[in-house]
Amino acid sequence: MRFQQNVDLGPLTTFRTRGAVARRFYWIESERDALEFATAVVPVASDWLLLGGGSNVLPTRTIEVAALMRLHDRSVVEEGANIVTVRLGAGERWHECVEWAVSEGWAGIEALALIPGTVGAAPIQNIGAYGQQLSDVCLWVEGIEIPSGQLRTLTADECRFGYRDSIFKHDLAGTFIITAVTIRLEKRREAAVAYPELARALDGVATPTISDVFECVVRLRQRKLPPPEVGSAGSFFKNPIVPLPVAASLAERYPTMPQFPFNGAVKLSAGWLIEQCGFKGVRRGDVGVYDRHALVLVNWGTAQGTEVVRLAAEIKDAVRARFGIELEEEVIIV
Ligand code: EPU
Repeated sequence: MRFQQNVDLGPLTTFRTRGAVARRFYWIESERDALEFATAVVPVASDWLLLGGGSNVLPTRTIEVAALMRLHDRSVVEEGANIVTVRLGAGERWHECVEWAVSEGWAGIEALALIPGTVGAAPIQNIGAYGQQLSDVCLWVEGIEIPSGQLRTLTADECRFGYRDSIFKHDLAGTFIITAVTIRLEKRREAAVAYPELARALDGVATPTISDVFECVVRLRQRKLPPPEVGSAGSFFKNPIVPLPVAASLAERYPTMPQFPFNGAVKLSAGWLIEQCGFKGVRRGDVGVYDRHALVLVNWGTAQGTEVVRLAAEIKDAVRARFGIELEEEVIIV
């Protein structure tokens, strides 16, 4: 397996912060590399990190071992009259898979356009946007157990998907390497639009197609999220989910607070909470809160990972003090 010593991790992440180095860095370019990494490298490492697109991780320190997932596959496993089953290698770029599906006329992931990162990272946080999430289409996830090297296929049920959550963040955290994801898409050109902001943006399009949705999501994301040349990891925090009575009392105190019904509870908007605390557009050195979306922390230049963590802690303290709500990071801080 290809490897190099002392690799700066910043440029391999979309945050591009400074101050994190991997003492040994590996490239996983075949199933054999993945097996070797899981059975021979990780078990003797004091700490390790696996990177895909580096779009949901904030490395802050020196790490003994890191690896880059580069397993590629984009194959049709099964095709019926209305359904197609597709296997995607963990190292594939997610957005390119969405583009491919849309161009083939396969529906189910068109609203997940422009989500940065790789296929292998998608199930970990069950990526979601504009009314779609990976768990809606995921059939199974393949991977390798650490340290046994046992190949395992988890059904979608076994992945225990939740809102930005899965078994890979809990029981299997640190003991599983995802190698491929198989999804099921529908052969259908017209789109089902559920998300209000998307429906509004598509107003005037009589029967939106999946290409319309794809293009619209690209436009919406480009308007709200920082361009690729600005370091960030998308939403830094999850939207908090609170029980109904808590939501009711918050609504009484803050009548303009956005609230969304969610599985018998209420999802609040972390972006709104952060904006209300006055953080939208603030800057501390090279770290800041994006001025078009308060849920996005940005690295305007040469910020250290630890500086981002400091601003995040400041935001969490302010939201807790003002609203009594604990924000939880969506980004994985290492
Ligand atoms: N809002 C504000 N101020 C802000 C930002 C948002 O008040 O600065 C309020 C607005 O009221 C808005 C509401 O928050 O109506 C929701 O905002 P938005 O539609 O932008 O969605 P979000 O909940 O902030 C989530 C995902 C995004 C995804 C969008 C669209 C999470 C943590 N984030 O953001 O995902 O693109 O919905 O579906 O669930 C990501 O995970 O990296 C990501 C970008």
